[in-house]
Amino acid sequence: MSAPNKSYDPVEVEALQPQQIEQMRDEALAAIAAATDLDALAHVKTAHAGGGSPLALANREIGALPPQAKAEAGKRVGQARGAVNKALAARQGELEAERDARVLVEEAVDVTLPYGRATAGARHPLATLSDRIEDIFVAMGYEVAEGPEVEAEWFNFDALNISVDNPVRSEQDTFFVAAADGSEDSGMVLRTHTSGVQIRSLLERELPVYVIAPGRVYRSDELDATHTPVFRQVELLAVDEGLTMADLKGTLDHMVVSLFGEGMTTRLRPNHFPFTEPSAEMDMLCYVCRGESVGNPDRPCRTCSSEGWIELGGCGIVNPKVLIACGVDPQKYSGFAFGFGIERMLMFRHNVEDMRDIVEGDVRFTLPFGMEI
Ligand code: PHE
Repeated sequence: MSAPNKSYDPVEVEALQPQQIEQMRDEALAAIAAATDLDALAHVKTAHAGGGSPLALANREIGALPPQAKAEAGKRVGQARGAVNKALAARQGELEAERDARVLVEEAVDVTLPYGRATAGARHPLATLSDRIEDIFVAMGYEVAEGPEVEAEWFNFDALNISVDNPVRSEQDTFFVAAADGSEDSGMVLRTHTSGVQIRSLLERELPVYVIAPGRVYRSDELDATHTPVFRQVELLAVDEGLTMADLKGTLDHMVVSLFGEGMTTRLRPNHFPFTEPSAEMDMLCYVCRGESVGNPDRPCRTCSSEGWIELGGCGIVNPKVLIACGVDPQKYSGFAFGFGIERMLMFRHNVEDMRDIVEGDVRFTLPFGMEI
């Protein structure tokens, strides 16, 4: 800033000379007129009307003038700045109007155009249910284990204490895989349950083992309303020190509460499986009538046929012979296991009456389950 100018002559303050001010104003007006979009105008505004612009600097020089000269110089600069600000505002208005008009055209939506007719898909409810069951056990620290669907007979049967002459081999309606020469002796089957994965897990993992084995299994049933030759199972295996039937029962109860809500429970009925001893059939309380339809003809329940319980699958304490086959010391370790079919659970959980609806893959069946993930 110049020093106070006692002997006043405004011409001596270079920046305040009338031609200078006019030039600054004209340059600003020209730049404003030349700005073709709002970004450019913002730059022009900073350069010609901002705190560091020539007119703002000139304005500051007024303070250095003697009092009698201040008014005139102030008026000159003020008018120039006023003209610039006015032009800026006007151009801003023009450019905004231009932009709005352009956006209206560019972003116009033709609501009469035909919409995309490909409907969005949905996950199959079997996959969703299987995931949900896995989540329950993963939250408890279990790992999800997988294995091949074409399985060695040893894993599917022998290691599970199902010897060659055991009728279970045919009871499970096994698909035997033919050898390359056409003979039936390949030693391979389509797995009839995912129990082979449990054997693999025991052989591959360090103890203790807590695994859940979901997956497709095969049995030579005809497809009808209640059977399918390919279905999904979830099997579970826990092997640790000191595991008992009480741990099995607690785990099953936790699962049905997580899937069907508070107040749910399970019951065990004696049964026989070669790979568990003792073995049980597991039922869960009917989640619809909660047992209240039993002996109550006024309140029949379709879901459990008024029996109060729904059969889920098999379970038991792992047979020591199975542990030995996997190199696990049955004196030190014990385990429990269970297995059940997911299709059946889906059927009673969602009142699906025909198994074929589940396996046929018609979107009209899948879609009502929504985009649930
Ligand atoms: N593997 C048996 C089946 O597929 C189910 C089961 C698993 C039973 C574990 C008991 C223990 O039928």
